[in-house]
Amino acid sequence: MKLTKRPRRNRKSEGLRGLVRETSLSVEQLIYPMFVWEGNEEQEIESLPGNKRWSVEGIAKESRRLYSELGIRCIDLFGIVGDEKKNADGREAWNDEGVVQRAIRAIKREEPRMMVMTDVALDPYSTYGQDGIVRELEDGGIEVLNDETVEALVKQALSHARAGADIISPSDMMDGRIGAIRAALDAAGWEQVSLLSYTAKYASSLYGPFRGALGSAPKKGDKKSYQMDPANRREAVREALLDEEEGADMLMVKPATYYLDVIAELKEKTHLPIAAYHVSGEYLMIQAAAASGWLDAKQATLEALLSIRRAGADMILTYAAPQVAQWLMEGC
Ligand code: PBG
Repeated sequence: MKLTKRPRRNRKSEGLRGLVRETSLSVEQLIYPMFVWEGNEEQEIESLPGNKRWSVEGIAKESRRLYSELGIRCIDLFGIVGDEKKNADGREAWNDEGVVQRAIRAIKREEPRMMVMTDVALDPYSTYGQDGIVRELEDGGIEVLNDETVEALVKQALSHARAGADIISPSDMMDGRIGAIRAALDAAGWEQVSLLSYTAKYASSLYGPFRGALGSAPKKGDKKSYQMDPANRREAVREALLDEEEGADMLMVKPATYYLDVIAELKEKTHLPIAAYHVSGEYLMIQAAAASGWLDAKQATLEALLSIRRAGADMILTYAAPQVAQWLMEGC
């Protein structure tokens, strides 16, 4: 054939493929979500193979190992408490002696270089398993109250800042919470604490394994009155512009792989760095397929994460962070 243009020439060797590669994945782009509970030892999380419920001391030691041996520089903390600590208003969330607050201090003591991000939302502490404060309705339904919830989230965020959090990450999807938390942090002298907003968090089927790990599934109703409708993309831009205006430092799209178009859209329509959360269901689908021998976990995980980067995400939250760090060190 007389072809002057042969795109395959750019794929002919590993060296050439390396030269023309458009997207890369590196350990400094990873954020590792971790769970801390009040137990004194570690417990495997059945729904998230390879992940654990850590004790406060355990998570501090593990943070040091993750940082020094694997180069993981940011973890995202989720607290797990027993039913006796749950309330209708989730007030355990802003207890300065709560499990997350103690874990932040322990991690910072053990490995001060580790960036500690914390999740702000009431669901782990709410008897309803809802992210906000609930009002029971006469028809037996519930309403998740916006403005009352924002007040509670501000208390939770301040408590995390006092404990030493570097980045606060509200995952609740209430209106106006970024502006309110930013103002409260600044007024208290925490203007250096960053805000990573869950900007476009969808009401997804993929959070099941996470809720299993926390025991935080909604007891009543669902989360569709605050998490976004999976059918919508333009609405994500509206949320993003509001968060940018309210003072967010970074925006998040969640889940990641089903929402690559949303990642690309926010990257284009805003000036802020974009994070994407490869959530528990996305992780588990690969793990389960790999456990039955149908997929190669390493190849499938790296391809998923690369696609998230290609779509425009600057950073990725993933339960596979330690494995990925190891693979990257080995040259993949
Ligand atoms: C709750 C929260 C959820 C996740 C992170 N923060 C679950 C939910 O909204 O019900 C999901 C994470 C995952 O599935 O990996 N505020």
